[in-house]
Amino acid sequence: MTDSALPQFPPGFLFGAATAAYQIEGAVQEGGRGPSIWDTYSRVPGKVARGESGDVACDHYHRYEEDVALLRELGVDTYRFSIAWPRVLPDGTGEINPEGLAFYDRLVDALHKAGIEPVATLYHWDLPQTLEDRGGWRVRSTAHHFAAYARVVADHLGDRVKRWITLNEPHCTAFVGHAVGRHAPGTREGTPALAVAQHLLLAHGLAAVELRASAAAHGREAEVGITLNPDRLLPATDSPEDAAAVDRAETLHNRVWLDPLLRGAYPDNEEATWGPMADGSYREPGDLSVIAQPLDFLGLNFYRPIQLRDAPLPEESARTAVDIGVAEVPIEGVRHTTMGWPVVPSSFTDLLVDLHRRYPELPPIHITENGSAEPDEPGPDGVVHDADRIDYLHDHLHALSDAIAAGVDVRGYFVWSLLDNFEWAYGYERRFGIISVDYDKLTRTPKDSYHWYRELLRSHRERRDANG
Ligand code: FCB
Repeated sequence: MTDSALPQFPPGFLFGAATAAYQIEGAVQEGGRGPSIWDTYSRVPGKVARGESGDVACDHYHRYEEDVALLRELGVDTYRFSIAWPRVLPDGTGEINPEGLAFYDRLVDALHKAGIEPVATLYHWDLPQTLEDRGGWRVRSTAHHFAAYARVVADHLGDRVKRWITLNEPHCTAFVGHAVGRHAPGTREGTPALAVAQHLLLAHGLAAVELRASAAAHGREAEVGITLNPDRLLPATDSPEDAAAVDRAETLHNRVWLDPLLRGAYPDNEEATWGPMADGSYREPGDLSVIAQPLDFLGLNFYRPIQLRDAPLPEESARTAVDIGVAEVPIEGVRHTTMGWPVVPSSFTDLLVDLHRRYPELPPIHITENGSAEPDEPGPDGVVHDADRIDYLHDHLHALSDAIAAGVDVRGYFVWSLLDNFEWAYGYERRFGIISVDYDKLTRTPKDSYHWYRELLRSHRERRDANG
């Protein structure tokens, strides 16, 4: 690959790689960690493919030094990982587990030693089971417990971690977890799922306040953001019905988060989207001002566009929060990854440019996840020659640089993922890593995409240094 084929980015642009605690750490019963909803869910027969779980995962808990060495070799500026709430507070609240904090001390110290800036996500879906037993995200108190947990972590790690992501993809927690039922806790609910969304927004706002209060109390700096997965939603036809379907889906996928966070307002079409389900019983006066804390950055995960059409609603009594009268229509004529996701890089540019146009309030953006799951058969040399993943990354990075050229303020990009890992309900079969993991031996082998990304980062650094 010649240099000219590599996309170019502004000199201060940061490159990184991302992971999440439950997907890589393993050691679920070590170091005083309490159980999370994913430990429970993955033990329910039929929920996770082949009955797999994050029990061992990549054993990153014991092998983090090797993983940091791979990150250093890769040449990333920054690394996004998540902190497991039940490692720090095994019951979600109350007693702090020093051994849990000590693991993140070791990880963060190793990253600094390698010259890599840590970015910590406080919640990547592993709610302590004790809190789920008390109502989970359906109850308001969980938002307050989350803020208290954020404070504990910030007081402890804030001397070495400057950039915080409160929540990862609250859309998945609220709607994939509590309405589709494919993620923990795996229920199919209506109004309670909307309550979950409200409490996640509140949790973010309350935690943002705590993260900044901790920094102020210690005379430290802190940048606070949240990671969303706004979707690029396309109507299947140009009929008014499909246009209205996309409007409802915009609210379910995007506006439910972006409007309160960026504008301090709830979407104006909640009634049209959810009908009587959206009864507002889960809201209190003053919530919006807590939610709409200033954001230092917005984290954004992007994988694929979604095409939709108008569809009939189920009976009201059977209706969940994702039943909004839309159906997905497969996008034909493009390559699909092993997730079945269509590869349409231009939709990445379109999404960013469209968000920039619709939300003048947008803070700087960091792409906190982007990548692809591929078949990944190792060659005779034992190495995965993942040309499809390289194409995916290459084309999406070009699409990203097009968005920047069009005026969107994007400051960083994290590839998903550093390692093959536990891909939630799909278990270990879907591989997103730029490093392959042998799940029997727990050995790591960089794929061709790792070497490609490394070369991109090297040429970026060279240009940055040349620019002084
Ligand atoms: C995102 C998740 C991440 C990973 C990728 C493929 O929705 O944040 O943990 O599963 O999808």
